[in-house]
This record gives sequence, structure tokens and C-alpha cells, in this order.
Amino acid sequence: MKILLIGAGGTIGSAIEKELAPRHDIVRIGRTSGDEHVDISDSASIRKLFERTGSFDALICAAGNVTFAPLAEMTEDAFALGLRDKLMGQVNLLLIGREFANDGASFTFTTGVLSHDPIAKGASASLVNGAIDAFVRAAAIELPRGMRVNSVSPTVLVEAMGSYAPYFRGYKPVPATDVALAYAKSVEGLQTGQTYHVG
Ligand SMILES: NC(=O)c1ccc[n+]([C@@H]2O[C@H](COP(=O)([O-])OP(=O)(O)OC[C@H]3O[C@@H](n4cnc5c(N)ncnc54)[C@H](OP(=O)(O)O)[C@@H]3O)[C@@H](O)[C@H]2O)c1
Repeated sequence: MKILLIGAGGTIGSAIEKELAPRHDIVRIGRTSGDEHVDISDSASIRKLFERTGSFDALICAAGNVTFAPLAEMTEDAFALGLRDKLMGQVNLLLIGREFANDGASFTFTTGVLSHDPIAKGASASLVNGAIDAFVRAAAIELPRGMRVNSVSPTVLVEAMGSYAPYFRGYKPVPATDVALAYAKSVEGLQTGQTYHVG
């Protein structure tokens, strides 16, 4: 399969690449790193990416930014980053990407544990993750040509605990290799409309 992997240089993305590269042709995409560049918060940038990459069999997004701040400090502007980047970025990857997707192609998005197990300063992440998981369920029943869409919702990763540990006390972190398996299930299996919880 030709797989477009957005966020390939990241903690999760690099583990996905290790899992899938032995069996597939991976296009490594980042904001500034990788074979191709895109800013998912900008739909014109997304369209230009697909015009360069052409048709594909699977798209994985392991990228997405939100604001982490106490709710008392959260403003409409502070929420805007998550809405524009992690939420509409991934929605737009499907809306624009479906024009370039081969029959039977899959989209796999990244959400996270905070949709249902919140932490302090995580309101934007919770909102966006829950919205994408809901979007996936809805989009799956209307996608034409055998196309599929799923999300992967990991808990905090072992590899991220260096910086995230103070925010995730009491959470049992999972290794990136385990998280990568959920992307393999989405891409190489036949399920659709699913959210794979890891951890
Ligand atoms: N790490 C965790 O413990 C964890 C747990 C649950 C969920 N998640 C979610 O998983 C996703 C990835 O997390 P991560 O920790 O793997 O991130 P990361 O290590 O910071 O890597 C992010 C990757 O995404 C790319 N990227 C960032 N913003 C982008 C944009 N606007 N457009 C296109 N590409 C962009 C980066 O490109 P460059 O390399 O060019 O900068 C990089 O390759 C995030 O949505 C995060 O919320 C992470």
C-alpha cells in the first residue's frame, strides 16, 4: 500500500513508520521534517500536499496541536488552535483527501485518552479528541467507494513521560510500539468507524 504518514518524525509517527515500513511504501510527512511538508491547520496546504503525493491507499495523521492551560485561563482564542489544527486539520484531511484516495482507502486519525479521562489543563485536548472520535463514527457510515475511517486514542506514551509525567500522575504509560499496532489494525484490517483505545 502507498501510505501517507503525517507526523512521521514524531513520537507516535516514528513508531508507526517502524511497524508499517517493512510491508508498505511510506511517504513521511511533517510540518518541517520528512519527505513532504504540510501544515494541517491550513486547508490550502493540505490540498497542495495531495496534489504532490497523488493517489494513496491509506492516510495516517499522527499530528495535531492543542492548547494546554488551566480552564480559568482558557479563552475562545486559546481553544481556536485545537479547533483549527488537531480537529479541523484531521477533518480536512478526509474532506480533501477523499478526492485523491483510491477505492477502499483508509483514513486513521489520532485522538487520545483525555476525551474520557481528563486532566487539569486538558480541556481543549478533551474537546478535540472527543469531537474527532465522534466524527469518525459519523463519517464512516457515509464514506463512498469502500473507504474507511478510524481513530487511535492512546493514553500517555512511555516515550513522552519525560515531559508529560507531572500532568499524568497515576496513568500507566504505554510503549509507542503498542500504540503503533492500533494503526496497523486500522490500515491493514477492514474495520471502520472505530476508535482503538490503547492503554
Ligand atoms: N505523546 C503522547 O503521549 C500522546 C498520547 C496520546 C495522544 N497523543 C497525540 O498524538 C499526536 C502526536 O503526538 P506526538 O507526541 O507523537 O507528537 P510529536 O512527537 O510532537 O510529533 C508531532 C509530529 O507532527 C508534526 N506536526 C506538528 N504539527 C503539525 C501540523 N500543524 N501540520 C503537520 N504536521 C505537524 C511534526 O512535524 P515536524 O517533525 O516537522 O515538527 C511531528 O512530525 C498529537 O495529536 C497528540 O495529542 C500523544
